[in-house]
Amino acid sequence: MSLLDVTGLRVRSADGRDLVRDLSFTIGPGERLGLIGESGSGKSLTALAVTGLLPSGMTASGSVVLDTPETGPSEVVGAPERRLNGLRGRVVSVVFQEPLTALDPLMRVGRQLAEPIRRRRGLRGAALRAAVAAALQEVRITEPGRVARAYPHEISGGQRQRVAIAMALACEPALLIADEPTTALDVTVQAEVLALLGGLVTARGMALLFIGHDLAVVSGITDRVLVLKDGEAVESGTVREIVDAPRHPYTRSLVAGARHLDSALDWTNR
Ligand SMILES: Nc1ncnc2c1ncn2[C@@H]1O[C@H](COP(=O)(O)OP(=O)(O)O)[C@@H](O)[C@H]1O
Ligand SMILES: [Mg+2]
Repeated sequence: MSLLDVTGLRVRSADGRDLVRDLSFTIGPGERLGLIGESGSGKSLTALAVTGLLPSGMTASGSVVLDTPETGPSEVVGAPERRLNGLRGRVVSVVFQEPLTALDPLMRVGRQLAEPIRRRRGLRGAALRAAVAAALQEVRITEPGRVARAYPHEISGGQRQRVAIAMALACEPALLIADEPTTALDVTVQAEVLALLGGLVTARGMALLFIGHDLAVVSGITDRVLVLKDGEAVESGTVREIVDAPRHPYTRSLVAGARHLDSALDWTNR
């Protein structure tokens, strides 16, 4: 059984350009797939098409099926917003590159995080406050009390991304999509947030679609990789296969250019 089954996905712009073409892949429960490609290759549009969040004017065709024992199979392409709302959060959740896109600037962090937890688990009052504190601790926020009372602009970029991860996990999704979740962070914070994300995905047995442009990063956190170029898949395989024997010239250039690849591969042997 596949949790996510994408078949012949195409994303077309308002002016009729095909930005993603004939893309097919599957992710099973608990599997980790990396989507890698240069800037503008269609990675984010793929993530948005999977969650039914394409910008207005853009259209998806083909098929995107999300299937969990709890919900049964659901076709995302062409689904009404009401159906999509039932899938977002508890079936699939996204962490975006820029944490501020996930956070309301005018609402204290604790209140924002409380909302999905309340909806999912029906908690109120002191129990809800305790669950919010636990969620902040789970993403290793060191001062959960202060952060819960802060507005998003009052905490650091790394803390904001940790909060965005906590928000994405609050509804206990079966599939987490992480779209370049560390690209906007300082290098020192990047490794911490990646390790946190990998640990949480393992601890919860979630499936992961991890999007990135750096093969060293993507290969460190995923098992299989799909290489995207100009909106099309050019190669896919296990991290080992891609790194040891890249076939497409673009993949070869990615492998040759991957910095710190050796250490990333050591990390893969978990
Ligand atoms: N809202 C939009 N309107 C028009 N074109 C867009 C929009 N978003 C993305 N694109 C175009 O679609 C292509 C793929 O974009 P995207 O999926 O964001 O790339 P990636 O995430 O791989 O960097 C790019 O050429 C980009 O310019
Ligand atoms: Mg992108």
